[in-house]
Amino acid sequence: MKRIEPINQPEILLVDDTPEHIETAVTLLRQNNYRIRIATRGSAALRLMDRRCPDLVLLDVYMPEMDGFEVCRLLKGNEAFRDIPIIFLTSSNDEESIKRGFSLGAQDYVVKPFNVSELLARVNTHIKLKRQTQSLKEANLELDSFCYTVAHDLKAPLLSISKLAEYLEGDYSTELGSDGQELIANIREKSVEVVNIVNHLLEFSRMCEMQMHSEYINMNELFKDAYKELMQQEPERQVDFFMDGLPQIKGDAVMLKLLCLNILSNALKYTRHTHSPSIQVSCSESESEYIFSVRDNGAGFDMRYSSRLFGVFQRLHSKNEFEGSGVGLAISQRILKRHNGVAWMTGEVNNGATFFFSLPK
Ligand SMILES: Nc1ncnc2c1ncn2[C@@H]1O[C@H](COP(=O)(O)OP(=O)(O)O)[C@@H](O)[C@H]1O
Ligand SMILES: [Mg+2]
Repeated sequence: MKRIEPINQPEILLVDDTPEHIETAVTLLRQNNYRIRIATRGSAALRLMDRRCPDLVLLDVYMPEMDGFEVCRLLKGNEAFRDIPIIFLTSSNDEESIKRGFSLGAQDYVVKPFNVSELLARVNTHIKLKRQTQSLKEANLELDSFCYTVAHDLKAPLLSISKLAEYLEGDYSTELGSDGQELIANIREKSVEVVNIVNHLLEFSRMCEMQMHSEYINMNELFKDAYKELMQQEPERQVDFFMDGLPQIKGDAVMLKLLCLNILSNALKYTRHTHSPSIQVSCSESESEYIFSVRDNGAGFDMRYSSRLFGVFQRLHSKNEFEGSGVGLAISQRILKRHNGVAWMTGEVNNGATFFFSLPK
């Protein structure tokens, strides 16, 4: 009789070339309701992965031809496999391998010969974590598309309200009298405000939904173009703009341009009342990432509230002081997240601010 497997029975790929280890692991995991596929070489593991993604990989360190580190490096470097947890199988005294495995992005390790309850506990934990992360991601996507739909559907009726108020004001102004006219002017002003908010929400959700097209980007040119564009809007301003040599990075040209525009427009805006405004774009690097910084000597902000900077519609300055909507940084952070980067800011009241962002090499 054909065995029916539950659809959500997790699948593990075991990559090992020692028959005793394979037997112990397979027996244990099958008993605990895992499906299991076996590869005795790195190249075979990669071929199996191409056919179907497992939920987790158990990866031996030492194998002929291609060792576990190389397999790990290839898997973590591939977008399709990056989120699959990898548990290294190492020998007890192999401190160096454990360190190297973690630095290549592995999630955990188990020492051979296996302690069965330890192996099972670690597998269970990482499968559970992966499933939770996956469902969080799906929930986020759903929320993004919900946000987009709501904003999109609100826009048309809001524009009608604004138009109707305009007609009312134009055609019935004498009947309305001065109090009525004032009320209508208020309605129009508020509806323009709401339409603006909705437009910003749409812009924000577009950054979550937009397809990415990755290519090599010259960050020097991107920042230079963005700065030029912004200065064309206020040509009378005198700003010292410095830029160090910036590297090429891989990313989406449209999104990264928007990122540069957002950061520089803030630097320009918040230096508007500064005596000799200056903006400096720099970059440093570590083994795995570039860290860009955009420093200005403007109004700065209070670091106590820095956790609010990246929230949608969150602002640390009032509209009277500096105009704005509070979505620029939220959009910037979205763009960076989609590039596997991180954004943060430092600042001090009346002593400038620096926007930092990291991008993987
Ligand atoms: N360069 C900067 N200097 C001082 N404050 C900044 C700077 N960049 C951002 N901020 C603070 O972060 C808040 C959020 O920025 P952002 O999302 O771009 O919104 P907006 O510029 O429309 O206010 C701003 O309201 C401001 O308080
Ligand atoms: Mg802004």
